[in-house]
Amino acid sequence: MNLTEHWNHVYQTNDSADVSWFQNRPTTSLDLIGTCGVAQGDGIIDVGGGASVLVDFLLAAGFSKLAVLDISASALDQTKRRLGARASEVDWFAADVTQFASPREFGLWHDRAVFHFLTEKADRQKYVETMKRTLSADGHAVISTFAIDGPEKCSRLSVCRYDATAISAELGAGFQLLEQVNETHVTPWSTEQRFTYFRFARSGINSK
Ligand SMILES: C[S@@+](CC[C@H](N)C(=O)[O-])C[C@H]1O[C@@H](n2cnc3c(N)ncnc32)[C@H](O)[C@@H]1O
Repeated sequence: MNLTEHWNHVYQTNDSADVSWFQNRPTTSLDLIGTCGVAQGDGIIDVGGGASVLVDFLLAAGFSKLAVLDISASALDQTKRRLGARASEVDWFAADVTQFASPREFGLWHDRAVFHFLTEKADRQKYVETMKRTLSADGHAVISTFAIDGPEKCSRLSVCRYDATAISAELGAGFQLLEQVNETHVTPWSTEQRFTYFRFARSGINSK
């Protein structure tokens, strides 16, 4: 399957509020980003941000040097249209996270529901390598995946589900798990999906 075509098709054929992962307000992400204590100018990259409104809330909160990365240019186009003139304040990367070479460092890496699609070990290793190259030495990461009792598929694709032990093993010694938050997400058609959010800091051990 061509993943770029798959995700472009999803965003070209669905309204942004009509996908299972839609949120009016990404409350848990915003809370965890706040807890990381990143300065407003440190830079935040939303990986697999799609049409999420997280970037709208971060702009409104005064954060600068924001970026949204997604494999789907159609998703990014939706978000740019929604933001209007403010879209020019954000960097947009239409890229596969496993292949991405960031032009600059960021203080915070945010990913809601992207890492869990990487069902091949080699892709997960590339993701972690990208994250290490992209994050500053004192950076933080907020990563949200389906929980152990979450769905086995999303958007017709298989996922891997995580608890703290499993995701810490994937990220390795360069990242220290500081916090986890369980969330029950209610889809637009009122079904429940269990997510877990993990907040990491670079540990300094094998960090680059
Ligand atoms: C379930 S959606 C979540 C979107 C957004 N994070 C949110 O919370 O609304 C997964 C997103 O990841 C993107 N995606 C999937 N695989 C990707 C990859 N390998 N690299 C970059 N983006 C990817 C998809 O295009 C989609 O926008």
